[in-house]
Amino acid sequence: MPNKHLYLNLYENLKQQIIEGQYQSDDKFPSKRALSQHLSISHTTIEHAYQLLLDEGYIYSKPRSGYFVSDIETLPIINRNATHLNESPNQTNAYSSNEVSNNENNNETLAFNLSEIDAEYFPMKQFRKYARDAFEDDQLSLLQRTNPKGEWQLRQEIAHYLFNSRGVTCHPEQIIIGSSTEQLINLVTDILNKPQFYIENPSYPPIKKILDKKQIKYKQITVEKTGIALEAFKKFNHNVAYVTPSHQFPTGYVMNLKKRTQLIQWAQQSEQRYIIEDDYDSEFRYFGKPIPALQSLDTKDKVIYISTFSKSLYPSCRMAYLVLPKNLCSRYDTLSNKESNTVPTHLQKMVASFMESGSFERHLNKMRKVYKAKLKFIIDALTPYQEQLEVNGAFAGMHFTLTVRNGLTLEECLKRAKQNNLKIIPFNEYDQNLQDVKFILGFGGIPFSKLEIHTQALIKTLIKK
Ligand SMILES: Cc1ncc(COP(=O)(O)O)c(C=O)c1O
Repeated sequence: MPNKHLYLNLYENLKQQIIEGQYQSDDKFPSKRALSQHLSISHTTIEHAYQLLLDEGYIYSKPRSGYFVSDIETLPIINRNATHLNESPNQTNAYSSNEVSNNENNNETLAFNLSEIDAEYFPMKQFRKYARDAFEDDQLSLLQRTNPKGEWQLRQEIAHYLFNSRGVTCHPEQIIIGSSTEQLINLVTDILNKPQFYIENPSYPPIKKILDKKQIKYKQITVEKTGIALEAFKKFNHNVAYVTPSHQFPTGYVMNLKKRTQLIQWAQQSEQRYIIEDDYDSEFRYFGKPIPALQSLDTKDKVIYISTFSKSLYPSCRMAYLVLPKNLCSRYDTLSNKESNTVPTHLQKMVASFMESGSFERHLNKMRKVYKAKLKFIIDALTPYQEQLEVNGAFAGMHFTLTVRNGLTLEECLKRAKQNNLKIIPFNEYDQNLQDVKFILGFGGIPFSKLEIHTQALIKTLIKK
């Protein structure tokens, strides 16, 4: 076996010379023997380097004539040595994405961002083991397309998990894995027959985006402290309700049992009616009795249940799941132009093993304690100021809201936030008609070591001494 380092170096060097134009297309390339003598390196090393150049199409061979340089204009060149790609994001203004610059700012700014988890507690070692297992156990089948609904093993694990943790009863056949809640809701709008929606006001922004894009009619219905204002349903004749009952986004309100029952009764009154239950952060409920999923209260196949691994595992995982009522499964099966499954098989296998081993449950139990402690820390620090600040939505999840009741205007609050190097999200980004001065605060991603400094900056910003 030749020295791997040496032949790869030689290959890189020759490739670079071709890319930089030291050879023109169809120029004769040095013979292997000549190059071996010239560089005093073994014939096998040259052989391996040439083979790579041949495989990637940089050179071609003609019988009995030797090697020639290809027309590289036609190659999809990935020039790993190109200087701009070796620069750090700081150096490459033109190439740095918004996300990179946001992350950089985050390092300096104190931020109550939404959609962040505490990555420090993620069991990376175990996850790495399941990654290795996935590639070792199933090497070739991992490369093939699989069932559009997703990996059977994962769907089985999700069915177990949902039954044990949320009281959701379903067969793995009813489960579809997708890359995001948004993608799955989009799929649901294809499955349902001419849906017209009721959505929460305010609501999770992607919903409106999907409905607008697909020109699906919807009515926005006010969210009260007890959940969506069901009375308003009587004024219209729409047939699908999208709700976030466990922890309404963005208000954080929890739908009470009475309203849950009424909502199910509404759906059961007509064959065409359905509820989409988005249970996105229900794993994290900290106070009071666990409230069962709507799906678990329904006996007539009226609830389309959706949840995600973005909070329970990590947001870049891009994996969510849908439980279709049995009566909609055949509509999914007969959909034309069905997308292939959008989540890589190896990731599905890793998550399935993680769940099967009990690690997922242990991880959730640990994270529930972590997030509860963080929330308690912040709320305790704000309690002395309850005449100035009203806290809402702090029973569950990784965000809550603060309404400022001391006369400070939104502009004043934002100006003070800037002075304190603090990033807080005004609630009117979700509710343009809002009269109150209100903010939505995510706390999941703030490390324990920085909670105090974040909370103090928040108090300094919103409290009038
Ligand atoms: C209401 C709601 N649903 C779903 C999600 C997660 O979506 P995804 O699965 O696309 O990450 C979020 C994230 O904050 C959310 O607020």
